[in-house]
Amino acid sequence: MGLAVFALAGCKSGPPPVPLEQLNAQQMHGHAVFQARCVQCHNDRRDKPLHGPPMVGVFKRPSLPSGAPANDERVKATIVHGHGLMPGMGNTMDQQDLDDLLAYLHTL
Ligand code: HEC
Repeated sequence: MGLAVFALAGCKSGPPPVPLEQLNAQQMHGHAVFQARCVQCHNDRRDKPLHGPPMVGVFKRPSLPSGAPANDERVKATIVHGHGLMPGMGNTMDQQDLDDLLAYLHTL
C-alpha cells in the first residue's frame, strides 16, 4: 500500500531534481543565478507555485504551463522577454548567466 502510493506519486512528479551537491560548476553557478533572479517568484525544488509556476521538472514535461513547448529556446525567450506578469530580464542578464541558468533548470 505504502509502495503503491509512492509509485503513483513518483509517476506524477517524475524523477527528483539532481541533489545540489552533485551539480557541476556550471550548474552550481546557474543555481546562484536562480537564487539571485528567480527565487522570489519561483520555487525551484518544491512543487508549489509562488508568484509564478514551480520550476521543478520544467524540462521533464513536454510543455510549459502556458502550453508552449518546454525547450531551451522557449525558456530563454521567457527569461529575456518576460511572459504575462513576469518581467523580461534581457537587458540585465548576460549570455553566460543565461546559459548557466538553463543548465541548472535542466537538473530540476
Ligand atoms: C517578479 C516575479 C518573477 C520573476 C523574478 C521571475 N518570474 Fe518567471 N514567471 C512569473 C510569473 C507570474 C509567471 C506566469 C506568467 C504567465 O503565464 O502569465 C512566470 C512564468 C515563468 C515560466 C513559464 C512560462 C510559460 O510559458 O508558461 C518560466 C519558464 C519562468 N517563469 C522562468 C523564470 C526564470 C528562469 C526566472 C529567473 C531568471 C524567472 N522566471 C523570474 C514571475 C516571475
